[in-house]
Amino acid sequence: MSKTILEDAIQEELSFFLQAIHECVHTDFNCNRVLNNAVANIISSVVSGKRFEYTDPLFVKFMKCLDENIRNIGTANVLNVLPIVRYLPGDLFKFKQTLRNISMIDKEIIRPFIEDNRNNYDDSNVTNFTSAYIKAIQQRRQEGQNTNMSDGNLETCLRDLFIAGSETTATVLRWGLVYFLNYPDVQEKCFQEILENVGQSRRPSMKDKTSLPYVEATVTEILRCADIIPSSLPHSVPHDVEFRGYTFPEGITVLPMLSSALHDPDLWGDPRNFRPDRFLDTEGKFQKMNEHIPFSLGHRACLGEALARMELFLFTTSMIQEFEFRPVDGVSPSLQGLPGIVYRPQQFNMKAIPRAK
Ligand code: HEM
Repeated sequence: MSKTILEDAIQEELSFFLQAIHECVHTDFNCNRVLNNAVANIISSVVSGKRFEYTDPLFVKFMKCLDENIRNIGTANVLNVLPIVRYLPGDLFKFKQTLRNISMIDKEIIRPFIEDNRNNYDDSNVTNFTSAYIKAIQQRRQEGQNTNMSDGNLETCLRDLFIAGSETTATVLRWGLVYFLNYPDVQEKCFQEILENVGQSRRPSMKDKTSLPYVEATVTEILRCADIIPSSLPHSVPHDVEFRGYTFPEGITVLPMLSSALHDPDLWGDPRNFRPDRFLDTEGKFQKMNEHIPFSLGHRACLGEALARMELFLFTTSMIQEFEFRPVDGVSPSLQGLPGIVYRPQQFNMKAIPRAK
């Protein structure tokens, strides 16, 4: 999808998100819910062209189902290894709850998205994923091509995009706040760079990225330190592979440990330290490192990387431009996360102080 469509969706949601934070200023508050809402709404806009009010009861129900399913991934996965446990009474592994939630999301969110886009389809105005998919199906059918694109496949794609694209980005943004609360000097340095290069009379845009190398280095360092998907997703070897004296037989499952690159002491020197400067060259310009692979590598690397990078840059710059974030009673949140498929920070409260203009 065009970068303008993605940026427009993010900027629209940012206005609602910043307003929601303004409603909490000077109180001790937990940003979890509002961050989750904003990020899920961006996916919603991008895939269907529709955003929800944060208080809309359907959206509240949807967010609860998404949240429960992300939390259930670990336990419900037991069924892949021991399918027989599905016949146990009760719902020890939460797979019944997971299926109920999927059914709710399909029936009340995803199918209406598809229906709406089909009813309002305009060939000359294809601006979201669902309408682009509908157009692609029609073209293939007109050309008499065989295709496995279908409404069922579209439903699965939308469900996957919601799951893969909401918790991940929201988690990195939460880690960003944890690091800003622990490293107020980094927060201040980002603010000064934004002040000098963007000012406070307009919101930052993607065009500002090249003039904000320290912010870019900080976001990159947050992604490295947070390391939110340490063992990536499971992959399977398509044929026997010899690698460094080991044989990987066809079909075996491989978990690529992204942490081994993101926290390699030989490469980074002090991998456990939060130090955005490591991504700046001697002239203060941002320098990319090939080993920085939080989105994995290869053909099956993260599909949403471009969107996620845009969200991280625009949310970080806009939040820091608008507020100073302070820990409650001077105690910063822990840098120790919670184990799981997605490595999340512990719950924390903070204060948002609006910046003087
Ligand atoms: C900071 C945020 C994000 C991080 C760190 C992240 C990271 C990852 C990682 C490590 C993978 C596994 C890649 C592999 O199998 O080798 C992945 C897969 C995937 N991600 Fe993301 N992701 C993020 C945001 C997003 C967003 C916003 C979307 C959707 C819009 C998304 C959609 C997907 C999809 C669909 C896959 C599966 C791709 C495939 O199997 O071909 N991700 N992501």
